[in-house]
Amino acid sequence: MKLSIHGQSCVMIELENKTRLIIDPFITGNPLSDLKASEVKVDYILITHGHNDHIGDTELIAKNNHALIIANVEISDYFKAKGLNVHGMNLGGGYEFDFGLVKMVRADHSSSYRESSGMTIPMGNPAGFILKLENKYIYHAGDTALFSDMKLFVEDNPIDLAFLPIGDNYTMGPEDAIKACRFLNPHKMIPIHYDTFDLIKQDPTVLKDALPDIVQIPEIGEEIIL
Ligand code: NI
Ligand code: MN
Repeated sequence: MKLSIHGQSCVMIELENKTRLIIDPFITGNPLSDLKASEVKVDYILITHGHNDHIGDTELIAKNNHALIIANVEISDYFKAKGLNVHGMNLGGGYEFDFGLVKMVRADHSSSYRESSGMTIPMGNPAGFILKLENKYIYHAGDTALFSDMKLFVEDNPIDLAFLPIGDNYTMGPEDAIKACRFLNPHKMIPIHYDTFDLIKQDPTVLKDALPDIVQIPEIGEEIIL
């Protein structure tokens, strides 16, 4: 499969069979994004939690592509009411989709959505995803603090690729992300959720120096083969 990062927590995945997934499609207003929301072609949209820098352009992309939105039940209900296709999940639950397995796992964070009117809506619990795609395990942590139960995620299966936030302030910073790597022992780790805004500016080379064999820092939009 091919993967690419697009600023903040946005990850695009294209499988061998051409199925395309996007995680946390924050494109409009994302200064790091190389995408145009109106041109994104995907079959599935996965959302970790309700914050605007994660839900992003979900509505437009889902409409344009008749894509299935996979998210917690609160976010799913919100988009279902707008006539979009949804699949609601909750923490600890896994489901075998046509393209592979999606397991929704814990994230220590919060989850609300601010509508353009300024009204804020609670959006259930925040989550991360463990995906099994083409027999590879991918962990997208969403926004989260460090928690030691990450160890449990790898009891049965090793993680081939982990996307971990390193921005600090709202999520783990680089030091806790290094600790998370000790818990997860991923084959590869790609840092996300940093440099998008001043509050989360980070130097990812700190991670690269600490874990040179694990940490990979691709350019925005660069193709990663897994
Ligand atoms: Ni958040
Ligand atoms: Mn965020």
